Amino acid sequence: MKKANIIIDKSYIVGDVDKRIYGSFIEHLGRAVYEGIYQPELACADEQGLRKDTIDLVSELNVPIVRYPGGNFVSGYRWEDTVGPKEQRPSRVDLAWNVIETNQFGLNEFVDWARKAKSDVMMAVNLGTRGVLEAVDVLEYCNLKGGTRLSDLRISHGYQQPHNIKTWCLGNEMDGPWQVGHKTATEYGRIANEAAHAMKILDPSIELVACGSSGSRMPTFGDWENEVLSECYEHVDYISMHQYFGNQENNTPDFLASSVEMDDFIKNVVAICDFVQGKKHGKKQINISFDEWNVWYHSNEQDKKLEKWVKHPHQLEDVYNFEDALLVGSMLITLLRHADRVKMACLAQLVNVIAPIMTSDTGAWRQTIFYPFMHASNFGRGTVLNTIVKCPVYDSKYGDAPYIDSVVVDNTEAEELVIFAVNKDLTEDFEITLDMRQYAAYQVAEHIVLHHEDIKAENTQSNPDNVKPHTGGASRVENGILTAVLENKSWNVIRLKKN
Ligand code: AHR
Repeated sequence: MKKANIIIDKSYIVGDVDKRIYGSFIEHLGRAVYEGIYQPELACADEQGLRKDTIDLVSELNVPIVRYPGGNFVSGYRWEDTVGPKEQRPSRVDLAWNVIETNQFGLNEFVDWARKAKSDVMMAVNLGTRGVLEAVDVLEYCNLKGGTRLSDLRISHGYQQPHNIKTWCLGNEMDGPWQVGHKTATEYGRIANEAAHAMKILDPSIELVACGSSGSRMPTFGDWENEVLSECYEHVDYISMHQYFGNQENNTPDFLASSVEMDDFIKNVVAICDFVQGKKHGKKQINISFDEWNVWYHSNEQDKKLEKWVKHPHQLEDVYNFEDALLVGSMLITLLRHADRVKMACLAQLVNVIAPIMTSDTGAWRQTIFYPFMHASNFGRGTVLNTIVKCPVYDSKYGDAPYIDSVVVDNTEAEELVIFAVNKDLTEDFEITLDMRQYAAYQVAEHIVLHHEDIKAENTQSNPDNVKPHTGGASRVENGILTAVLENKSWNVIRLKKN
């Protein structure tokens, strides 16, 4: 068996986990909203038409914050169309996804849904085709107590209490030429700064996210972050990062090595944030909102054939397989390893659209990627320890890639130490050891394993439990040393509890 050694020290910490790194995303896109979270005609819908089966699965994921309403959709968003009596709401063209938006589900319904799902809302404003005033207007509608036209309008819509949305995104992917209202870095930096300034006058308690690059391979990457932050450093708190991976070449080792690129991307954006802070002699540290990340490629060809100007088609409906779950596990480990700077992150997306949860008229089920996210979100709370992994590497298109990705989280409150680990070796098991003498009274409580012999195995409505975790992993603590077997191609969660 191959061997690896994991080294930690109780006092050598990266940072506290901000629970918002287990955020997700609902965009008005495909069947995320309609048929995903809202489907009034179904028996499983509540009095507001919200699907209870979806809410149950979202609760299993324990998602503390959900980004809304886009995504690319937000660049054509007219929030006023989405509030008030439903029969008066207009249908509109959605230029981002070439479909018809009926606005039968809107801003207030989303706030209600998020409450039922026990999530906060991360709201985006349209800085593609709209400007400062509309950004302030939607904030006034949501957060002001009353006594103004728009806060009173909210009250007249049945929402006496303000929504108190604390996190706001200043547009979406404004560096992307596909974006309706695409801007240069200077143009965007200026409007982001003006909107941020005005929004914080109205509600100084909010936090704001400026758009970073929509991927590390964008030709403007680096310059974009520098110019945007140079314009709006004073008024924003986070810069966004987005990244999707795919296995188009059907090369699993390369695909699983993609987390190396994600790690580099984070390091580079952190460096630029600190550069801008330094050149401005600033006191404020800009942190990262990694508000779109996932695997996305399975549905690309199918989506090219979609008919235009229809309502909520099956769009971006990736059916995930087991190797996707392994990479999602490695991406979660990467986010945790940067807990000092990544304060928010959103798995894109949550339901039906590149999502861990799928629905049909007859039920809802968990895709393969559901499991690593659920485990990290439920057990990855506390303080991230600087986790050194000594293991062999393999050659990949990103250079050397370690066979084992791992991170250790110390949850002092629960007296629990949790080791997350992915074994990327497709054929060989690894035996890992970890010196536990600083955690003398800790014993293995459970070792959860997600493994399947078929790397392409999927969960579907007719076979929803094809890929699912079990708790029979082999690990033990003896003489202060943890020894655990990580099966070939597996995601592992080893939970150690104080006796
Ligand atoms: O999540 C799907 C899309 O990916 C989002 O709308 C956009 O922001 C990104 O390009």
